[in-house]
Amino acid sequence: MAETLALTATTKAARYAELLPQIDTLTAGEPDLTANLANTAAALRQAFGFFWVGFYLVKGDELVLGPFQGPIACTRIRHGRGVCGGSWAQARTLLVPDVEQFPGHIACSSDSKSEIVVPILKNGAVVAVLDVDSDQLNDFDADDQAALEQLMQRAAQWF
Ligand code: SME
Repeated sequence: MAETLALTATTKAARYAELLPQIDTLTAGEPDLTANLANTAAALRQAFGFFWVGFYLVKGDELVLGPFQGPIACTRIRHGRGVCGGSWAQARTLLVPDVEQFPGHIACSSDSKSEIVVPILKNGAVVAVLDVDSDQLNDFDADDQAALEQLMQRAAQWF
């Protein structure tokens, strides 16, 4: 397994196109969920310098903090609460250009300004969400959504 990422592209879409196959290689043949989620969070943060990247896992009626990269974060989120709990409840990606405009946003850090949350669906049910936070307003767009949704479709096989 290569233990470094090779990233040369300067546009975001091209950088995702470089990164996703490398995450496939990094996780191929590894059966451990925590290992794969941890390396995925690290690869995304390393590639794009996001403020916070991590996973919340569905456990009973809550999301519980999983592998992440960035500052310490909220541990548990209720179904339907915040961006993460909303993405879980609606089973769809939520893209939030300005977290202060999102009703019920959970501010783990006041430095977080925009956010995208992508659910991982296994057999039609949400098993986890990927949360990516930026310290810039309006930092996520359709390119992030398309690439991260593709990545989370592949991540479903780890569960
Ligand atoms: N802002 C998220 C909470 C998780 S942290 O940002 C890491 C939310 O509203 O669900």
